[in-house]
Amino acid sequence: MTISPTRQSIAARLAEARERTLALIAPLGDELLNRVYSELLSPLAWDLGHIANFEELWLVQTVGGRAPLHGELGRFYDAIENPRKERGELPILRDEGLRTYMGEVRERTLEVLNEADIGPDAPDRLLREGFVYEMLIAHELQHQETMLQLLQMLDVPYRPAEADPDAFAPAPLEKVGGTIRVEAGTYEIGAPARGFAYDNERPRHRVELAAFQIDRTPVTNAAYIDYMDATGAEPPMYWTRDGEGWARTAMGVTVPVDPRRPVVHVSWDEAEAYARWAGKRLPTEIEWEAARPRLEGVGGAWEWTSSDFLEYLDFQAFPYDEYSKVFFGDTYKVLRGASWATHPHVARPSFRNWDLPQRRQIFAGIRLAKETA
Ligand code: AVJ
Ligand code: FE
Repeated sequence: MTISPTRQSIAARLAEARERTLALIAPLGDELLNRVYSELLSPLAWDLGHIANFEELWLVQTVGGRAPLHGELGRFYDAIENPRKERGELPILRDEGLRTYMGEVRERTLEVLNEADIGPDAPDRLLREGFVYEMLIAHELQHQETMLQLLQMLDVPYRPAEADPDAFAPAPLEKVGGTIRVEAGTYEIGAPARGFAYDNERPRHRVELAAFQIDRTPVTNAAYIDYMDATGAEPPMYWTRDGEGWARTAMGVTVPVDPRRPVVHVSWDEAEAYARWAGKRLPTEIEWEAARPRLEGVGGAWEWTSSDFLEYLDFQAFPYDEYSKVFFGDTYKVLRGASWATHPHVARPSFRNWDLPQRRQIFAGIRLAKETA
């Protein structure tokens, strides 16, 4: 984005993000919001309170200089202090108290926004061109995807108002196959200095790449079934046997596995094993970004890369260490692209997602690369 956001555009997008959050939970009662489904994911009530508390922390307390509405409550919504498997036990807000809090924070956010200097020359870098507001909008949209991960585990049918059953999976690919050859050369990687991006996407820098090949489309369910048949590998998460074939049970409904859709819910370890079996390899995240303009199928499932989540040269943490910095190292693997559950505002070509190599509850699939012949 090169045009500076205005107070009106920020308020409208904050409202749009909140509507989307509330639409996600509209079909659910309080019991389902509070239920712990898995130690890998928070109860939905925690995500909701965390969304509002993160908003209060940045847009009300930090920008507006106001005192917190509920004293020490914030520490139970700190994602680093409270591991996911413990979040169901915390004295967090629930039910009516939770809804009231979300509304009260939003009211204060809009009061503060009215007075904030978000112009391109604002002295405070946090506010300049609305950075902290863009960050909060992105944060809420990202947590919607986390909530959709949990909603996969629901044991009653989940159907929001305008439900299209096809909307909760990567779209089927029209044409499968083909490889793209990316020539050796210098490629610009990362987010430009202006416009919203997370700290880990900066600074934009040049990288020399050797030539490589990358598949035009991601690995499909059909290809993954061939691999399972040939090797006895485990099916992806949520798959169940359906006679001779496979079905998928998620969001409280069972549907046959569609062979033309990208495979999703495989771990990095599984993606690696698949790539080896296919005689190829995962792309590095730099190769992925260099090839991005020519790839098809991007946006159905996140794509595992071979890269560890590391900082770019001259990285500077901004505005806080806990978004990226504390995760750098060889523990996490980078995913690129976006999934069917990712809002377009989040899915920049430079966006870097990351998770543990054994995790399969995220909407992650596979695209293969190879050295050039
Ligand atoms: C970028 C998906 C790894 O959920 O841990 C949400 C995003 N950071 N709140 C995560 C995030 C703070 C983050 N991922
Ligand atoms: Fe968060």
